[in-house]
Amino acid sequence: KTKHRIAVIPGDGIGKEVVPEGIRVLDAAGRRFGIEFEWDHFDWSCETYRKTGRMMPADGLERIARHDAIFLGAVGFPGVPDHVSLWGLLIPIRRTFQQYVNLRPVRLLEGVTSPLAGVKPGDVDFWIVRENNEGEYSEIGGRLYTGTEHEMAVQESVFTRHGTDRILRYAFELAQSRPAKHLTSATKSNGIIHTMPYWDERFAAMAKRYPGIRTDQYHIDILTAHFVRYPQRFDVVVGSNLFGDILSDLGPAVAGTIGIAPSANLNPEREHPSMFEPVHGSAPDIAGKGIANPIGQIWSGAMMLEHLGHAEAAGAVERAFASVLADSDILTPDMGGKASTREMGEAVARAVERA
Ligand code: NAD
Ligand code: IPM
Ligand code: MN
Repeated sequence: KTKHRIAVIPGDGIGKEVVPEGIRVLDAAGRRFGIEFEWDHFDWSCETYRKTGRMMPADGLERIARHDAIFLGAVGFPGVPDHVSLWGLLIPIRRTFQQYVNLRPVRLLEGVTSPLAGVKPGDVDFWIVRENNEGEYSEIGGRLYTGTEHEMAVQESVFTRHGTDRILRYAFELAQSRPAKHLTSATKSNGIIHTMPYWDERFAAMAKRYPGIRTDQYHIDILTAHFVRYPQRFDVVVGSNLFGDILSDLGPAVAGTIGIAPSANLNPEREHPSMFEPVHGSAPDIAGKGIANPIGQIWSGAMMLEHLGHAEAAGAVERAFASVLADSDILTPDMGGKASTREMGEAVARAVERA
């Protein structure tokens, strides 16, 4: 029996509600495929911040550095400024553990309705590869002349050759492994005159090493329009930290609901643990009601299984939630149903046994 030690950080809001369902489904998969999970819980959250003045203890990162993976819900809640909560927990994990790939699949599943007329399952099936360690999310900058009429805020973007090339390489490799072998780059080199022309230059250089891949690039503004108009066009889409963030909420919206979207924050070299979390946040507007969609968390769990080397179990989890969604009896309100978070989690866990 394989055993894995997983650091669990439910975090805030609906993170606390969907993480137990993710664990329920992974335990069910574990029973079926002979995998044992040791779930090590860390109650780091905005509540912790209010009690201790910190999102996590000073040695927090050390405490999770040797786990096989991190399973996270969501971070951030009204009452603590987002830049405090996120830069005190989520972003340090992504950076310290060099999780420079944020991999976010976008797929319209049977039983889920796209808000776009005429778009059906099979039409929307692509991967967003988001740079996750640098770019627009930089600490360089500051505020000046505060309190005067000259006050200003400045924030620099950082695009290193190392950081740009490694995310582009990952995206080309992923495209290489897909039947369509098509990679789209999100850019804005017409308006952002230093970093984005540099991104395009590195993209073109990398493309030369992958002659079998069809590439194209769009400025981010029209790319968002194309996501809505022609979602069928995309296979793998690579973008900077901010562009990838925006596209990875838009993609799932086109595929029905942000509630099902998963993500993997990967350290491909496996020198540090990778982290698996849904794309969505803590959803303060529905937190505490028990109606959050747990599929984003469950699907993130499937990505974690895959990463840990259990492709068969990952496939079973994916088939399990796909079959529950296709049945359409048990759907949470964001998909037009009446089911609770727990009812959906239990249905998927049962389905894993026969998937
Ligand atoms: P959000 O994703 O939390 O919510 C946006 C909307 O989507 C809300 O109407 C919410 O009810 C709905 N929604 C989200 N997940 C859902 C689910 N599983 N089921 C049903 N409906 C769902 O985004 P927001 O409102 O911009 O952010 C709220 C907080 O979460 C903020 O503090 C933000 O910084 C944080 N956040 C954290 C993460 C993360 O931890 N990775 C990601 C995004 C936002
Ligand atoms: C995400 C979130 C985070 C991000 C926020 C909460 C910092 O939106 O994981 O997509 O922008 O990376
Ligand atoms: Mn986001």
